[in-house]
Amino acid sequence: RRYRKTIIAGNWKMNMTPSQAKALIEELKPLVSKVKWCEMVLCVPYVDIPTAVKAAKGSKIAIGAENMHFEPKGAYTGEVSADMLKECGVKYVIIGHSERRQYFAETDETVNKKVKVALENGFRPIVCVGESLDEREQDIWSEIVRKQVKCAMQGVSVDDVKKVVIAYEPIWAIGTGKTATADQANEVCGAIRDCLRELYGARAARAITIQYGGSMNAKNAAELLSKPDVDGGLIGGASLKPNDFFAIIEAAN
Ligand code: G3P
Repeated sequence: RRYRKTIIAGNWKMNMTPSQAKALIEELKPLVSKVKWCEMVLCVPYVDIPTAVKAAKGSKIAIGAENMHFEPKGAYTGEVSADMLKECGVKYVIIGHSERRQYFAETDETVNKKVKVALENGFRPIVCVGESLDEREQDIWSEIVRKQVKCAMQGVSVDDVKKVVIAYEPIWAIGTGKTATADQANEVCGAIRDCLRELYGARAARAITIQYGGSMNAKNAAELLSKPDVDGGLIGGASLKPNDFFAIIEAAN
């Protein structure tokens, strides 16, 4: 793994008020003060961002958003632009989470637009891909995931692609307590890297961090993260508890 950084990222989803965000980060900060072996990110709800950035100041925790609109400004009620996030101190943006694809009509096309806008604005996009249970059972996960990766990266240059993080999140493992086995996770992360190699060449492909997400927790993290193509985690539920999240960070060492 010497070609790429391990990144452990939390995705709070629709949890935590600003005061709860502050309390969690203050608890987490002393725990992570000596961490050198991975990058740490917390992707938080929009309204928590200013508080989270302030609370994380002076620590190695970077703050990310959970979504972003691709238009620069204008009549898009309820949306948030790249400029707004930049001014708030955001460094990462989750793009195309399966919950956004499923409930908020995100498509491969909007994901691609958002990835490009994120990169233009200096963010590191965390691009989520992953198959449904049905697609896993039909054994077509490889086609599905490859298509998602190819569409998301359309028009992204080889220099920019190194800033992209891919998160493999099998939909059947999200919030279900059902994790992919470490071998399954490694197999798909490896297939994603193969796809990136075809698109960008070996040098770029080995520099890209590919995370696993889906019921990762303090117990299963070490095994998942020990796999050669699993370069980190995108953690939902377990990122809401500082001790659990820190245990996953430790498991990455
Ligand atoms: O983005 C993280 C995610 O979807 C996994 O959620 O709660 O299964 O860890 P969870």
